[in-house]
Parts: sequence; C-alpha cells; structure tokens
Amino acid sequence: MNVNGKHRRTIWLHESNPAIVQIIEQRFLPYRFVIEDLKTVEDVAVAIKDMHVRGAGLIGATAGFGMYLAALSAPRTSMQAFMADLKNAGDRLRATRPTAVNLEWAVKRQLAAIEQAGPDIEVMIETALHVAQTIADEDAEYCRRLGEHGKAIIKEISAKKGGAPVNVLTHCNAGWLAFVDYGSATAPIYAAHDDGIDVHVWVDETRPRNQGARLTAWELGQHGVPHTVIADNVGGHLMQHGQVDMVIVGTDRTLYTGDVANKIGTYLKALAAHDNGVPFYVALPSSSFDWEKRDGVKDIPIEQRDATEVKYMQGLHNDEIVEVLLTPENSAVANYAFDVTPARLVTGLITERGICPASEAGVLALFPEKRNNPQESK
Ligand code: MRU
Repeated sequence: MNVNGKHRRTIWLHESNPAIVQIIEQRFLPYRFVIEDLKTVEDVAVAIKDMHVRGAGLIGATAGFGMYLAALSAPRTSMQAFMADLKNAGDRLRATRPTAVNLEWAVKRQLAAIEQAGPDIEVMIETALHVAQTIADEDAEYCRRLGEHGKAIIKEISAKKGGAPVNVLTHCNAGWLAFVDYGSATAPIYAAHDDGIDVHVWVDETRPRNQGARLTAWELGQHGVPHTVIADNVGGHLMQHGQVDMVIVGTDRTLYTGDVANKIGTYLKALAAHDNGVPFYVALPSSSFDWEKRDGVKDIPIEQRDATEVKYMQGLHNDEIVEVLLTPENSAVANYAFDVTPARLVTGLITERGICPASEAGVLALFPEKRNNPQESK
C-alpha cells in the first residue's frame, strides 16, 4: 500500500544483501517511518515478541523469513545437525506470541519444506528462501482477493443507501501493516474506496497499545480513506444511532468451527452489533484458520502481556516519543491481549475463496480439502 505515495510492503529482502530482511518498525508509527534490518533469527524473535512487527499475517511472514535466516547460520556439518538447529529456531520463534496461529503455521510449513528438500544443504537454504517469499506473496495475494469478496458487501450497502457513505467500524489494526499488503479487515475498504464507493471508517483506538489510533488511522490516511478515530467504548452508542452499517474486524486465529480470536474488546463490539442488528464480519486469509481446535473460549491460548502497556501511554511530545504514567503507580494491572467472539455472533467470514457462514459446515464448504479430517489435512 502507499506511504507518501510510494508502494510498500511490510517485509522484504534487502535489495543488495540477501542475508538481511527488512521490516517497517511499527513501534515508531505514526510519528516516524523507520526501517529495521533483521540479520539473525534472534533479531526476528525480538521483533515479533516486542511488536516491531505485529498482526497475524505479518507475524507469520516474519517467522517464515526468520526460518530462512536460521537456515543461513545453521551448522552445515550434517543434515541432522542442520535440521536440529532449525527446529530449535522454530521453537524460539513459536514461543514469542501464542495467539496468532500464523506463527505456528509458517514455522511448520518451513520445517516440512526444508526437510523435504534435503539432503543438499545449499538446496535446503534455497528452499527456505523460496518458502519465505511464497508465504509473503500468498499473504498479499489472499488479502487482495478477500478484499474483492468483501467489497461486494460494501457495494450492496452503498446501493441500498443510494450512494450515501457506508460507515464501517473496525477494531485494532487488521490493515496492511498487520499483513504483507492490503490487510484483512481493511482490504474490502481499500477495494471499495478505490472503486469510487463512498466509505467512511470508524477506527476504535484499541487500548492498551492503540493499534487503531496509531496504525489503522495512519494507513487509512496514507491511502486517502475518510476515517474517524473513536475511543474504544463509543461503538455501541454509534450503532444505537444507526451510524454503523457494518463491522469488519480481522482475527489472530479463527477455528474451523467459526469461533474468532481477535484483539481484546472485539467480543464486546460483536455483542453490541448483535443487539443492534449490525452485520459483523471477520476477514481472514486461510492461514489464520486453526484446523484443530473446536472451542474458542476453552481452547485458544490468550496472550497476557506486560503490565506496563496498560500503566503507561505513549505519544509525541515536543517531537519526542515519550511515555507517561496513567494509573496510580502501585495499582495491580492485568493485560489480556485477545478475546474470543463466539461463532453465533459472527455474520460471516470473508476469505480469499469467498464469504461463508462462521460455522463448521460453512468453512468446510469453502475448504473441502479439510473436510474428512481437518486435523490431519492441515
Ligand atoms: O497484538 P497485535 O497487534 O499483533 O494484534 C493483532 C491485531 O492487530 C488484531 O488482533 C487484528 O485485528 C488481527 S491480526 C490481523
């Protein structure tokens, strides 16, 4: 997508040094546009854990490149030693963030492909690079395609409103910054906007890290999409007053039964949408499906992050990025990063293959290759 009019992705290989992976360092946005070099798997692990990169698709793509960097530095004495090192690297990456299923998926995909390419280690390294690039390209392409499917819903609402602005509410950042390009929740919005449909976005600020206020607002602004940032608790009020035509959110992990894990606060938006008859859609590339677990509330691991994210607030002051204390210094703080929206509150899932009901039957109708035993065919 566009940054100051220039097309960019969120992750890419250094132009003249293929041993360096480059990312947009998201902790500085929207105040500064900083590019970071990642040279080792440890750099990648820190970038994921400390959220230099974040969002399900981008976490997966970064892990894919992390496995490539691990392959570059793994011992070449034997295929066994090489693979043992890569497995350790995979474990290190997997341990960084538990909720986004793309991380696990990308590591597994890399390990399987690299092992299969053996025993020539040079070929195994080439495979790791190829798979990393394929994961990134697929992520962008699947988001583009789901954007086209989601655009149809926005177009229909626009027609019903006689061309008046379609008001979409979104939570957190499931924009292109959370993927390699386009985004999931934002892809239908960008596609509609680019087609000349009048669309306006209500952007939840998304405490505690404010991904909505900082990232979604920034990227929508860069692309020229009209938007308004709102405090997290405003959505219900807007829905009661007919000011939200639809909700589109992303997801860090959606079970094939339809339960959706997403940034903390999503569940409350889904309840408000349900109460007000507002359609509530979840947009995701298929890499964010979990084909094993069945019960979202019971089975999805919910990341708890450091208390400082709740206690302190970051912002720009006199051109410096500063942190200020928000709470009494000694108050106890809990920081649950995600919640689960049960399938019954979800109007539909927007995927690269089309839109389906958030149910086992709906998902498996779009992904029939997972039908007989989703657990085995993942
Ligand atoms: O903690 P983050 O920023 O990695 O959380 C991920 C998110 O941005 C959201 O939960 C998003 O809606 C889904 S990820 C595409």
